[in-house]
Amino acid sequence: MGSTNQNQFACVVFIILGLWVSHSVSRTLNDDASMLEKHEQWIALHGRVYKDVAEKERRFVIFKENVKLIESHNRVGDRLYKLSVNEFADQTNKEFKAARNGYKGLPSMGETSLSSSFKYENVTAVPSSMDWRKKGAVTPVKDQGQCGCCWAFSAVAAMEGVTQLKTGKLVSLSEQELVDCDVKGEDQGCQGGLMDDAFEFIINNKGLATEVIYPYMGVDNTCNAKKAASHAAKINGHEDVPANNEKALLKAVANQPISVAIDASGSAFQFYSSGIFTGECGTELDHGVTAVGYGTDEDGTKYWLVKNSWGASWGENGYIRMQRDIDAKEGLCGIAMESSYPTA
Ligand SMILES: *[C@@H]1O[C@H](CO)[C@@H](O)[C@H](O)[C@H]1NC(C)=O
Repeated sequence: MGSTNQNQFACVVFIILGLWVSHSVSRTLNDDASMLEKHEQWIALHGRVYKDVAEKERRFVIFKENVKLIESHNRVGDRLYKLSVNEFADQTNKEFKAARNGYKGLPSMGETSLSSSFKYENVTAVPSSMDWRKKGAVTPVKDQGQCGCCWAFSAVAAMEGVTQLKTGKLVSLSEQELVDCDVKGEDQGCQGGLMDDAFEFIINNKGLATEVIYPYMGVDNTCNAKKAASHAAKINGHEDVPANNEKALLKAVANQPISVAIDASGSAFQFYSSGIFTGECGTELDHGVTAVGYGTDEDGTKYWLVKNSWGASWGENGYIRMQRDIDAKEGLCGIAMESSYPTA
């Protein structure tokens, strides 16, 4: 009797387990099938070509992990920003950081405290919002590609802004000239650099060529001296915004587009799609971008309007709104730590 009961019990357990296993196997297979289909659609959309089947399988695993991360982020209801399966969805965060960022950070804190004067220190009134795009001081979003020269894009966008404010003319200027010709000190083309050093180069070079004359290639080339001798615009100097002070940054951005450095190393940044970005991020500055405005959304959340250089399909047409006036003095992702601008 006892053993029969035991057998029956074992049998029931086996059936339940069997049902459960086959159910979860088929669910996993269905999930994988739909994920494979998603990957195929994504490949077609972005024209991605993998060199062989092994590479495709490796990319699929990364793609699947990223899609899961993005979907689980978006399921949380009270988030102020959304992520999306964008063109970077088959790259690990590590690969993405290595290829896209490249802000070197100031060599020592000494340099920050040695900082020049701050021409906006006595500014008392600033508009409640600002969008330099609407004032015609911002060129269309560019794409640095697989080259860590964000620093050049950040410096050039700030220079395009100050030039437009001075001359009334918006001209797209050359990042490639900085990548190729500005090889002193911290600036090492696709291997990274600093906006302040870029401004120094432009001052010493007595100007910068247009994008048309010295177009972007996205790789390190030798300097074309003839093109670099063409000067579409010039700057007279550069200043740093007092560090760790969002109020000072506000005074500056109210007056011109400003080069800022941020910690853009996280997956949330890689897949940011829309809304006001509130983190995750630290303050290990690794990416140069440009603050081109600020504002407050309907809910009262204050933000910086930031121009990135990852193409127009990333974020809000190439831009990100980042939370402003947070408790930490460094600002969100360290945005108030090392900002600077050219003077013309
Ligand atoms: C700000 O005001 C102080 C006091 O009047 C003055 O000494 C300083 O030069 C001013 N700064 C700038 C950048 O104009």
